[in-house]
Amino acid sequence: MTATVRTDPALVKVALGARSYDIVIGRGVIASLGARIAALRPGAKSFIVTDDNVARYVLADAEAALTRAGVAASRVIVPPGEASKSYRVLEQVCEAIIASRIERGDLVIALGGGVIGDLAGFAAAVVRRGLDYVQAPTTLLAQVDSSVGGKTAIDSALGKNLIGAFHQPILVLADTALLDTLPEREFRAGYAEVAKYGLLGDAAFFAWLEANWRDVFSGGPAREQAVAACCRAKAAIVASDERETGERALLNLGHTFGHALEAACGFSDRLLHGEAIAIGMALAFEFSARRQGLVSKAAAARAARHLAEVGLPTRIQDVPGPPPSVDQLMDLIAQDKKVRRGMLTFILVRGIGAAFIEAGVDAREVRAFLSEKLAER
Ligand SMILES: NC(=O)c1ccc[n+]([C@@H]2O[C@H](COP(=O)([O-])OP(=O)(O)OC[C@H]3O[C@@H](n4cnc5c(N)ncnc54)[C@H](O)[C@@H]3O)[C@@H](O)[C@H]2O)c1
Ligand SMILES: [Zn+2]
Repeated sequence: MTATVRTDPALVKVALGARSYDIVIGRGVIASLGARIAALRPGAKSFIVTDDNVARYVLADAEAALTRAGVAASRVIVPPGEASKSYRVLEQVCEAIIASRIERGDLVIALGGGVIGDLAGFAAAVVRRGLDYVQAPTTLLAQVDSSVGGKTAIDSALGKNLIGAFHQPILVLADTALLDTLPEREFRAGYAEVAKYGLLGDAAFFAWLEANWRDVFSGGPAREQAVAACCRAKAAIVASDERETGERALLNLGHTFGHALEAACGFSDRLLHGEAIAIGMALAFEFSARRQGLVSKAAAARAARHLAEVGLPTRIQDVPGPPPSVDQLMDLIAQDKKVRRGMLTFILVRGIGAAFIEAGVDAREVRAFLSEKLAER
């Protein structure tokens, strides 16, 4: 671990009326887990859901923080990885919560990355028809994206995140020091979502990232600032469109191309989600530049340059192994999205920080674009 310089944690509010909550961001804030829970829900018991990796690095500190504040805690530890977002593991988690006599008024704590947040959040949504829960995200992706906004889910055999619920947490506690033990590749993949906030809606933040990304990676004060900026952006979008009927879809910049690539790789280690999204965002910029010249070629190149600079892939050819075919990618895009009369909805860009929702993208145009991209060497 790098030396811990304690500064005041950053606070971001998610304004959702009676379901409003705070996001607390800072190095070392996990030590305040128990005290914050005791203040929010005096007398409540807690139940931690975590995975083996997180248990190794973080569980002892989290449990100590709860004990110090007099918050009773029991727990379940599940295997790491997407495979835990399954009916089988959900059942184990729900049964463990019930066996620990967690009742309405008590709390579930999701201590882990996006897999744990989605799984524990969904368990909390359904056990006893809904328990309160706290997100304690431990990956960069979870701190800037999945822990905020209340989307919870497990996977169906037919697709990711198809069994789920909107269920907002009562607190998000993002300790940026916990990211020090995250494998570098996971950190970098999570950074794709950080860059996404700049690319979709905040050109000044993107320019700041171009100047400060090294400090974000090494765990200096810029890391906390970056996580806080992303949470502010996500909180604002969620507050205005909690259930994704409009603006929240902007958060899917790069995700149509990205999901197709992830699926083509069988959601394997060949391509992590954030890596797929980095390629997807580079493609979304290029596609926008090609299509009616929405964005300048220079801006598209600048977006890709920054992603490549931090070590993220930006071209389909960067994915190790044999590339997917155009047919395969188009099939996967059609599965991911409703195609209405040959038209697809895409998040396109007018410039860096200026994404918009375009419902009338001709599937033939997408096919032609991807054919060109796949033909490049
Ligand atoms: N709900 C949402 O809004 C939303 C948004 C984006 C993504 N997601 C979901 O998030 C999931 C991906 O999340 P993720 O990228 O965090 O993956 P993850 O939870 O699998 O974590 C990645 C790896 O890092 C390990 N890890 C976690 N914290 C660690 C730490 N501090 N030190 C060392 N290792 C640690 C984990 O054990 C795992 O092996 C996907 O299932 C995706 O669908 C949900
Ligand atoms: Zn994503």
